[in-house]
Amino acid sequence: MSDSYKIKHHGVDDTTNPSAAPALSDILAARLSRRDLMRSSAAAGIAGASLSLIPTLAEAAQAPSAARPAKLGFTAIPFSSADRVVVPEGYSAEVLYAWGDAVGLKGNSPAFRADASNSAAEQAAQAGMHHDGMAFFPLPQGARASKHGLLAINHEYTDDGLLHSDGMKTWNGEKVLKAQAAVGVSVIEVEDAGKGRGWRVVRPSKYARRITANTPIGIGGPARGHALMKTEADSLGVEILGTLNNCANGKTPWGTYLTCEENFDGYFVNESGTLSDNEKRYGIKNKDAGYKWAWEDFRFDLQINPNEANRFGWVVEIDPYDPKSKPVKRTALGRFKHEGATVTLAPDGRAVVYMGDDQRFEYIYKFVSKGRFQAGNAKANSRLLDEGTLYVARFDADGSGQWLPLVHGQNGVDASRGFADQGEVVIKARLAADVVGATKMDRPEWIAVNPKVPGEVYCTLTNNSERGGEGKPGVDAANPRADNKFGHIIRWHEAGGNAAATAFKWDLFALAGRPDAKSDAHKGALKGDAFGSPDGLAFDAQGVLWVQTDVSTSTVNMKEYAGMGNNQMLAVVPQTGEFRRFLTGPNGCEITGISFTPDSRTMFINIQHPGEPENERSDPAKPKAISSWPDGDAGGRPRSATVVIRKLDGGVIGS
Ligand code: FEO
Ligand code: CA
Ligand code: CA
Repeated sequence: MSDSYKIKHHGVDDTTNPSAAPALSDILAARLSRRDLMRSSAAAGIAGASLSLIPTLAEAAQAPSAARPAKLGFTAIPFSSADRVVVPEGYSAEVLYAWGDAVGLKGNSPAFRADASNSAAEQAAQAGMHHDGMAFFPLPQGARASKHGLLAINHEYTDDGLLHSDGMKTWNGEKVLKAQAAVGVSVIEVEDAGKGRGWRVVRPSKYARRITANTPIGIGGPARGHALMKTEADSLGVEILGTLNNCANGKTPWGTYLTCEENFDGYFVNESGTLSDNEKRYGIKNKDAGYKWAWEDFRFDLQINPNEANRFGWVVEIDPYDPKSKPVKRTALGRFKHEGATVTLAPDGRAVVYMGDDQRFEYIYKFVSKGRFQAGNAKANSRLLDEGTLYVARFDADGSGQWLPLVHGQNGVDASRGFADQGEVVIKARLAADVVGATKMDRPEWIAVNPKVPGEVYCTLTNNSERGGEGKPGVDAANPRADNKFGHIIRWHEAGGNAAATAFKWDLFALAGRPDAKSDAHKGALKGDAFGSPDGLAFDAQGVLWVQTDVSTSTVNMKEYAGMGNNQMLAVVPQTGEFRRFLTGPNGCEITGISFTPDSRTMFINIQHPGEPENERSDPAKPKAISSWPDGDAGGRPRSATVVIRKLDGGVIGS
């Protein structure tokens, strides 16, 4: 395959943060909880840790937790390189909705063609590629129903080697349209058909919907109507065509779905030979990154449409219960490479949204709404994400932390630094965060709020091996490993247990790794089963934290990860800190997306990009070279899919 076909959707080979925020090159101690440090400070490869200096943050903060720890009732499974989904004894895992399956539009249910010859129009009525974040919404709306509901599912990016019969050998507008129809979001109606039959997609369904890179989407918040959002096609800056690279997600207490635009930069190109600070900071290049959309759709050519890239990189709110509703990009939440958007409520009812910006040395953000959640007042709640304060996190070496406001006119975020108004602050949120001195993290991914401990929040930092060496930021207390190939999970406690607080205390919940590693830096500090590159993260209603891994296909089961098999999902009870492997995926996939029915007896997860090769683009001549999941010998190519997990005795998942 020629070089021009290579793509790295994650952009992890890049660093686009040149800011000189403080970094501590000789940390005294990483802020692991004392329990973890006593067990494995040596193994963690952390220099000079002095136990007496480590406060017992974790224990102290958990004191108010009267909740009894949940118990894990399953037996851990081993590493696996099998080309299938493996779950513990007593569980089932069944495919529900794979790329190319009809979404269920009335009178428009095209069947998947195993040779990838479906047209762009057919693709727009079928499941997209690369399933990612996902949420279950019970039916009827407002019920705690667990047998019937909607699933909103993100489709992150495309493997054009699989998407078209001949891959990218030829290129034309129809192929771009098909790729644009294969990203975005699916809304499907699902039901538990009862004894022996399990879950199925309801077709046709009045709720069925595909949102693609061409669906009209409104704009809310400070960037609505902003000069930097205006284009020739949208002279008012109020409507954007489409959403793309839909990575992780959120779910609001008022019953809407949040889909998050991550690596949007890869779809744009500016071939002028120069780049603005804004373009550079968001990773826009002078060369096409590999999707080739700009070749056929000039929206993505920044020489022709210089503002179009400002219209991506947002959190998009969708009402899954109303298929006619127009999704809205909520610009008050800032523009960056959004991983997810985890919503919780402060004690006074303000909505709080936690968000990671997934790239090396990027930041963790939170948004606090001005208004308060009002049960049953859909109209008022629909405006909560348009007005409020956007913050970015600074993790201090003493275990305290601050949420720094990104508010025009405060802390140097003003015209003297190039921000004309709050609209420009949110559009250039990364640049504003540089000004206030946020902490550069090891690729912030998902964020999970503990339902059992008020104000306790966890974030996966998937990996970053670029801290060390000349001209690099070096380690700091919150990101203590220079060669962090396995990633870690950071945890913080908001002051007073209030999600809207501006101060917090933090510690390192776990350093991922493998005890048999050659290098101390890769041994990790955790109890239980080894893993690396944590990404998906969510609590269930019992207080069990589920961790999903995304070891890149250029590393999985090789190099430092040799012998660790395919990507996996683990469960951990925070109070015991023991990680237990629950699931392993097929070859070349990542495990992502997680949602439960209200009764916790059905879990939905996504298998993304089974069969993905190292360069993230399959050879169309050998689509099944790495995986033939889920269709096996009968199928034509591997397909991302939503999987239903149940306990054979009908019990609570994990119990
Ligand atoms: Fe789309 Fe950061 O994973
Ligand atoms: Ca992810
Ligand atoms: Ca990832």
